[in-house]
Amino acid sequence: MARKIFVAGNWKMNTTIASGVALANGLKETIGSISEVDLAVFPPHVYLKSIAETLAGSQITVGAQTMYFEEKGAFTGEISAEMIQDVGCQYVLLGHSERRHVFGETDDVINRKVLKALAAGLKVILACGELLEEREADKTMDVNERQVKSALEGVEEAAMANVTIAYEPVWAIGTGKTASPDQAQEVHAEIRKLLAGLYDEETAQATRIQYGGSVKPGNAAELFAMDDIDGGLIGGASLKVEDFTAIVKAAL
Ligand code: 13P
Repeated sequence: MARKIFVAGNWKMNTTIASGVALANGLKETIGSISEVDLAVFPPHVYLKSIAETLAGSQITVGAQTMYFEEKGAFTGEISAEMIQDVGCQYVLLGHSERRHVFGETDDVINRKVLKALAAGLKVILACGELLEEREADKTMDVNERQVKSALEGVEEAAMANVTIAYEPVWAIGTGKTASPDQAQEVHAEIRKLLAGLYDEETAQATRIQYGGSVKPGNAAELFAMDDIDGGLIGGASLKVEDFTAIVKAAL
């Protein structure tokens, strides 16, 4: 089955309002009318509305880097699914390794966020990935299976149309050390097999699995060419118009 490639930029805790809007304007100019590839950017929460307004009328959609699973109330510092939709987001990124390992988000919390986001009508990029010591201890698939399976607990088959998985080996994030296309492909194929078991073959074949971790203009094409790699979740290289544009063009 031909899955449409999906390339997303996770800006993490970077940019200012001015540089974020300039980045969005630059991307609008270079890749804003591309429809053969799905495109999204994930700016910091405080800039979401401005970036969504900047990108309005282009093919580039906007998502939030995280959210909380409650609707409203006494949750100081958090924002809800409804709030991020209110400022123009179609997507939310959940389960990113920095949320797991820097902020201590558990599988259970991530599962609750996934369920809430989907129920609210958001599309989800669900990230998973093993630490270097887990890979070295031959636990790569155990970890990714546990993370994906627990995050999707209670997610109905029909809702999977709104879920993209992002495999991001933690040892490859921001390190310049990309997984080789074969290393990534191996895990992507296993994740797809897991989805076939959790749902069915058709759902597994229809679900996009992005690769993330030091994707750059120079390695994007070989990664995206692999059978089970359906695009990328880009960190550092998504902050430069030239680099993100080149990565998106590598997907064409
Ligand atoms: P880098 O592309 O900077 O390695 O980051 C990947 C990532 O974590 C995207 O979510």
